[in-house]
Amino acid sequence: MEANMPKRKEPGKSLRIKVISMGNAEVGKSCIIKRYCEKRFVSKYLATIGIDYGVTKVQVRDREIKVNIFDMAGHPFFYEVRNEFYKDTQGVILVYDVGQKDSFDALDAWLAEMKQDLGPHGNMENIVFAVCANKIDCTKHRCVDESEGRLWAESKGFLYFETSAQTGEGINEMFQTFYISIVDLCENGGKRPITNSSASFTKEQADTIRRIRNSKDSWDMLGVKPGASRDEVNKAYRKLAVLLHPDKCVAPGSEDAFKAVVNARTALLKNIK
Ligand code: GTP
Ligand code: MG
Repeated sequence: MEANMPKRKEPGKSLRIKVISMGNAEVGKSCIIKRYCEKRFVSKYLATIGIDYGVTKVQVRDREIKVNIFDMAGHPFFYEVRNEFYKDTQGVILVYDVGQKDSFDALDAWLAEMKQDLGPHGNMENIVFAVCANKIDCTKHRCVDESEGRLWAESKGFLYFETSAQTGEGINEMFQTFYISIVDLCENGGKRPITNSSASFTKEQADTIRRIRNSKDSWDMLGVKPGASRDEVNKAYRKLAVLLHPDKCVAPGSEDAFKAVVNARTALLKNIK
């Protein structure tokens, strides 16, 4: 049996699973859990000290699921406390604040922390990850848009949800899909169903969209040197257009990336004789 498979997995029987929350301090992990379990929101920030533990029961199809939730503190100070709680986990709620770019950029470090603590025999492949882009109610401060978050999550085979613990938007949908995916995974012997594991776009497409988002000018966007010839610009453009054309590419953000490439080419050709 796989290391983090729960003990009982016969269809129809009750199942016990372990779920943890992960993400920077103050992104809203505890509030997301509170919103789902207690149907309320607390606006005052009460930092989680170490770990908060709770048990809840949910019904998925014909199974009763007993969920042990370990809500982790995001502050680096609590690393020592967190690190023993990563093992034997079936589901992770990975949260960032859409108004705090740092908290989005930190997601890779959270995965790395978990991987390191699971050790060489730990397997992240049989864990369901639900990424929550939280605090979507704070529209004025939003700096990580949906396609950027979705691209990150989906290129890793993770679930992605836009949530607000304050208004409740996306919270029930997130937990329902999350629990169904965990049960599916358990019933499938710890293997992700094919549809979940293989993103419907390639790594090259995802990397290219990210590169285009972060490019500093039109030359950089097309991946040519400043002062490149018309031919070089057109060649680079054609390559990107084939890769990102909305008819061919379903990666989140591909449409905007494609438009940006079209505009970059137009702008460059205007000034090249
Ligand atoms: P640590 O326990 O320190 O790791 O933080 P946490 O991620 O558990 O954050 P917590 O849930 O305590 O929320 C932090 C602050 O953000 C609190 O003041 C919450 O009221 C606020 N907050 C959480 N979710 C939302 C949300 O969706 N929208 C808004 N506007 N505020 C939120
Ligand atoms: Mg907390």
